[in-house]
Amino acid sequence: MSVAATPKVDAIVADFPILARPTSRGKRLVYLDSAATSQKPRAVIQALVDYYEQYNANIHRGVYEIAARATTEYERARVKLARFVGAQTSEIVWVRNTTEAINLVAYSWGSSNLRAGDALLLTELEHHSDLVPWQLLAQRTGAELRFIPVDDRGVLVLDDLDRLLEGCKLVAIAHVSNTLGTIAPLETIIPRAHAAGAVVLVDGAQGAPHLPVDVKALDADFYTFSGHKMLGPTGIGVLYGKHDLLAAMPPFVTGGDMIRRVEYAHTTFNDPPRKFEAGTSNIADAIAFGVAAEYLQAIGMEWVREHERILTGYALGRLAEFEPRGLAIYGPRDPALVSGVISFNFADVHAHDLASILDTEGVCVRAGHHCTMPLMDKMGWAATARASFYIYNSEADVDALCSGIEKAARVFGV
Ligand code: ALA
Repeated sequence: MSVAATPKVDAIVADFPILARPTSRGKRLVYLDSAATSQKPRAVIQALVDYYEQYNANIHRGVYEIAARATTEYERARVKLARFVGAQTSEIVWVRNTTEAINLVAYSWGSSNLRAGDALLLTELEHHSDLVPWQLLAQRTGAELRFIPVDDRGVLVLDDLDRLLEGCKLVAIAHVSNTLGTIAPLETIIPRAHAAGAVVLVDGAQGAPHLPVDVKALDADFYTFSGHKMLGPTGIGVLYGKHDLLAAMPPFVTGGDMIRRVEYAHTTFNDPPRKFEAGTSNIADAIAFGVAAEYLQAIGMEWVREHERILTGYALGRLAEFEPRGLAIYGPRDPALVSGVISFNFADVHAHDLASILDTEGVCVRAGHHCTMPLMDKMGWAATARASFYIYNSEADVDALCSGIEKAARVFGV
């Protein structure tokens, strides 16, 4: 029996209320867009309700009972996220999402460490969130932007890595490509970046939800991820940073709670992580994110990876049946090299039209450029349809996707 068909998946599905609701056309909801945002288990939704119904109060301020409980639960969530990625609690900074975390590092670390003539190294796979902040930093400082190339399957080509790393101060790299699912060989890149004197930021938006992550074993300097892609709420994410780096960085956003002492003319700042957490935080969502991390840990991230590897292999096999009729599968074809994401196009059917037909069958996929316009331009794709998998998906969902593609074939006469 395959992992994707084990009773464990049925038990997981039962934890997600939305998956029991039929669509307005009476179809079963087949959710294949977890790379955009994941669904939420009942425990996460309940954590939000509990906060607002039982102990809604600001943190780090009030001395009364519900305020103390809010502070305790919020800081407990930080401990849970630290445990999730193998970090120290003081190295976990709450942010809104991965995008904000990368902007924080680009402004705070970048502006104080980068000079004209330095280089920044990215990859050709990066999401706009891990590209635009570095473009602006390069413009502000006069630093040079370089890119690790990808081959026509979207696999990183490391042949010139040492030359690309010469004079490089920072490497920013997606753990997993949101468009193609390519898993970056961080265990090769990070030591070589460090040997060249560069700091490494890993955009873990598609990594932390799907792969076991130990930031200390990886030796990443910064690792960023978002709650909503890993069963948690929107509006909350994590910036992990090595303590010494965070301690040396100036604040990014300033205001209340991030200070130690304020005088009319001068301010001293709190220690990390609170130095980077100005203003009232996203309290309920941080607490619920902690519940999401616990939920994933209870399932086991090794199981999550294995489940998605098997499901991706099954999906690649099923989609390949359409290749004689013009279905093009992009990205690596080896499930060991990808994490639960498959981009494709079907003959001359536009990706948006394909996604609309799939929607009539209850199948949710994303279509478009996936916030990776430079990659799309390089590959010559106007748009792709993208199916992405998570813990609640099964082979039956892949079969529903394929039935939807059959329907598109009939509608468009492919
Ligand atoms: N970055 C998210 C995606 O790839 C929104 O869909």
